Amino acid sequence: MSIAGKARKVTTNTLLEMKRAGEPITMLTAYDYSLARLVDAGGVDVILVGDSASNVMAGNETTVPMTLDHMIYHAQCVVRAVDRALIVVDMPFGTYQGNSRHALESAIRIMKESGAHSVKLEGGSEIVESIQRILTAGIPVMGHLGLTPQSIYKFGTYTVRAREDAEAEKLIADAKLLEAAGCFGIVLEKIPAPLAKRVSEAIEIPTIGIGAGADVDGQVLVLHDMLGITMDFSPRFLRRYLNLETDIKEAVSTFVEDVRTKDFPNSDEQYE
Ligand code: KIV
Repeated sequence: MSIAGKARKVTTNTLLEMKRAGEPITMLTAYDYSLARLVDAGGVDVILVGDSASNVMAGNETTVPMTLDHMIYHAQCVVRAVDRALIVVDMPFGTYQGNSRHALESAIRIMKESGAHSVKLEGGSEIVESIQRILTAGIPVMGHLGLTPQSIYKFGTYTVRAREDAEAEKLIADAKLLEAAGCFGIVLEKIPAPLAKRVSEAIEIPTIGIGAGADVDGQVLVLHDMLGITMDFSPRFLRRYLNLETDIKEAVSTFVEDVRTKDFPNSDEQYE
């Protein structure tokens, strides 16, 4: 049986073993109880309570407005739903960049108040001190390199990162630094596929790609994007598995029609 198939509960060690065995790791986002339950039942290995909740749940343009309280609330909802997957929670912008003590306090709040299993931070050498401090408390940390949406105002666009040699070399150095610091995995977002392959071969911890090609150790997508709920966003890397925007709109307009024509409720749909 595969390592993923054997794991009744996925841990950071399961992911390391999967990389060693060449078994692809699956990761999706979730932010609420109902969908997290379905995602877990679908067999995904890692559920990310991403700060993309800022976009898809709250309707913000960026992830910057997300607070620690918001993330803890979403994480609590997901934790109640999940039996098998490893739960990773994004540390929101402003809760770990200032100093490592603040980072540790933020990570401890996430772990204590939500019951999640680990945290994710965006960035490389600039935040390694925060990562080290969080790890000293026994909190597993996932890194995130390449396109780091919390820095959108520094970069100005969501285009592919690290196309230039200098940025690519820094990204490889950062990945090695995060591995040496003790991260259990790294998300690689929107970087050229050959670079993602080099990074994945250069480190022993798993890389999870989003827009990083096939030669990484796992893939992550934002749930609402792959289900076709958010249709205003169509990057090249995104595969849609459903078109729920159409299905949901059709269901709602059929309900409206049924109520207006007094077709709903019928005699079977009421109490005597
Ligand atoms: O917040 C998020 O959903 C993420 C993924 C894009 C990896 O960080």
